[in-house]
Amino acid sequence: MTTMKRGTTVYLYELAWILPSIALPVGMLAALTVTAFGAGIHLPTHEGRVVPTKVAETAPFDKPGVVQVASGRYEVSMVAAIWSFTPNEVRVPAGSTVTFTVTSRDVVHGMFIKGANINLMLLPGQIARATARFDTPGEYPLLCHEYCGIAHHTMWARVIVEPRS
Ligand code: CUA
Repeated sequence: MTTMKRGTTVYLYELAWILPSIALPVGMLAALTVTAFGAGIHLPTHEGRVVPTKVAETAPFDKPGVVQVASGRYEVSMVAAIWSFTPNEVRVPAGSTVTFTVTSRDVVHGMFIKGANINLMLLPGQIARATARFDTPGEYPLLCHEYCGIAHHTMWARVIVEPRS
């Protein structure tokens, strides 16, 4: 009787640990699948290399700015350096799809656009690329979110999405 009782207790106790340890990874896998395929959230991939000291001479960073490549499609080449983004203002009409190609000229910076699906780490020597669609007119702050020195908090730019006329 005592043995059976103890046996049952141990089994339930083990089950209380086994079930969550199965449920947790299954839940995480489900969250991963939903965010990757449903919300379109992906890790930014490595898009190429650039010599950090030669960023100013290397295309497309030799001409930082906004270029319209098709109807409703824009390419932005952007350079991050202590403590600014060049260009520091991007203007596009509402409904535009914008691809940002970005690198750092000096230390590790970050690039986060509030309200858009863009969150990049900018490593000197590496090119980062991300695309987002801007449907709602307004001002989207573009911030450095990697601590990069004494004036890190002043390192920001903005995306201005203008209403379609
Ligand atoms: Cu650049 Cu913080």
